Amino acid sequence: MASETADIIIRNATLIDGTGSKAISGDLAVTGEKISALGATLDIEAVEEIDADGMALAPGFIDAHTHDDRIVLTDPTMTCKISQGVTTVVTGNCGISIAPVTINSRPPGPLDLICPAASDFFPTFAEYFSALERAPAAVNVVAQVGHASLRVNTMDSFERAATSDEIEDMKSLLRQALRDGAAGLSTGLYYPPANKAPTEEIEALAQVVHEEGGFHSTHMRDEADGVVDSLEETFRIGRTAQVPVIISHHKCVGLANHGRSTETLKIIDAARAQQPIGLDVYPYVASSTILRKDRVALSAQILITWSDKFEGLEGRDLKEIAAEMGLGIYETIDAISPAGAIYFMMDEEDVRAIMSYPATMIGSDGLPHDRHPHPRLWGTFPRVLGHYARDEQLFPLETAVHKMTGLTARTFGLKDRGVLVEGAFADLVLFDPDTVIDTASFEHPQTPAAGILRVIVNGTTVWHDQIATKARPGKTLRGDKYLTHSIMAH
Ligand code: ZN
Ligand code: CU
Repeated sequence: MASETADIIIRNATLIDGTGSKAISGDLAVTGEKISALGATLDIEAVEEIDADGMALAPGFIDAHTHDDRIVLTDPTMTCKISQGVTTVVTGNCGISIAPVTINSRPPGPLDLICPAASDFFPTFAEYFSALERAPAAVNVVAQVGHASLRVNTMDSFERAATSDEIEDMKSLLRQALRDGAAGLSTGLYYPPANKAPTEEIEALAQVVHEEGGFHSTHMRDEADGVVDSLEETFRIGRTAQVPVIISHHKCVGLANHGRSTETLKIIDAARAQQPIGLDVYPYVASSTILRKDRVALSAQILITWSDKFEGLEGRDLKEIAAEMGLGIYETIDAISPAGAIYFMMDEEDVRAIMSYPATMIGSDGLPHDRHPHPRLWGTFPRVLGHYARDEQLFPLETAVHKMTGLTARTFGLKDRGVLVEGAFADLVLFDPDTVIDTASFEHPQTPAAGILRVIVNGTTVWHDQIATKARPGKTLRGDKYLTHSIMAH
């Protein structure tokens, strides 16, 4: 006789627990927002009984690198992510965040990737979080403070280092944001609003992160010829301020740098013995951001994702557009900007080596407001599971899941997420390991994955039978204290 009851019980599942351990078969029970039991055979009755029939049951995927700051408010169903099994998104990457920003004109690129209008921003993280708590999304949100956002709010020119007064202003904005629940500081030293900032400016800000708790993630100054110098700069910031650092979307861009992941991973590995370092990657050889001239020489092909000046360019090749306009490539860029683009600039072997590296998390870097987005927005997680783990046998399925769950929760210090364990939040994904695959392509980038059978966030089903339930049980994860200092050290 069953002595206990639960809200949901999933029976006969292949449990992949997120730690990287080998899958085992068993049952899992959910009560309220939490996993209430798991074991080989549970003698529990439940309101909802699900027969998994051997399908894989894993912790919900955590998207380590997103630009979902605004889409969680404007399209809270988050179909692009829940259809992949994503249950938590880390926002505010690459130096750009939706708060704390008060401006009265269109923001400079790349801030316009997330917020094209001044009114899209929030003056404080407290206001941003409470807007999100009043109108929650389907997924949980971990939000970072962007350095470029702080600069935009504080400086009248980005063509120089911040003065000591401006640094003080940024530090107090940052401190308040972290106290309001932001998880860390991101930089995008590659981008114009920040590329004149010296290392010392970031070290001064990272000091606040050290004091308040959190981490520092970075879209490094140079991912091309100067990638090693940029790694050293990143490590230095982490050491000086004593904060964990996360190298965002690690890659070696440009033909001349193809194959250099052998070198960069060796350097990262040596540094990880000295200080906490994490990294993320997306599973594609093409990158995507605003349209920039300095990427032309580095790219084999460039596709336009949006243009504010011309309609109908999205999805098209820049060379073709230039030929049609009767202009050179650089003149075409001037003519159609502000715009966004996809750049084919990485080497498949580097992508595989970086993805296989043990500390590498999976992050989509998807751009949800692009009209013709990079397929990574809809395809990242099923592509790693189906294409790279199953079809290409790059690593076992358990490792793939770990890179999207347990490793990510540990790196960001997320409490009770990312693993299947009694008492953890019931963020879950049930998927078919034989059929899971991305369907989003560069031609048709906005299509849901196949094989993601059910997605549960905080105990509530958000995706089932290829349809969003429209439930919005996501939380702002601002309660966690992000004690990553000790956790990331090994
Ligand atoms: Zn970036
Ligand atoms: Cu990014």
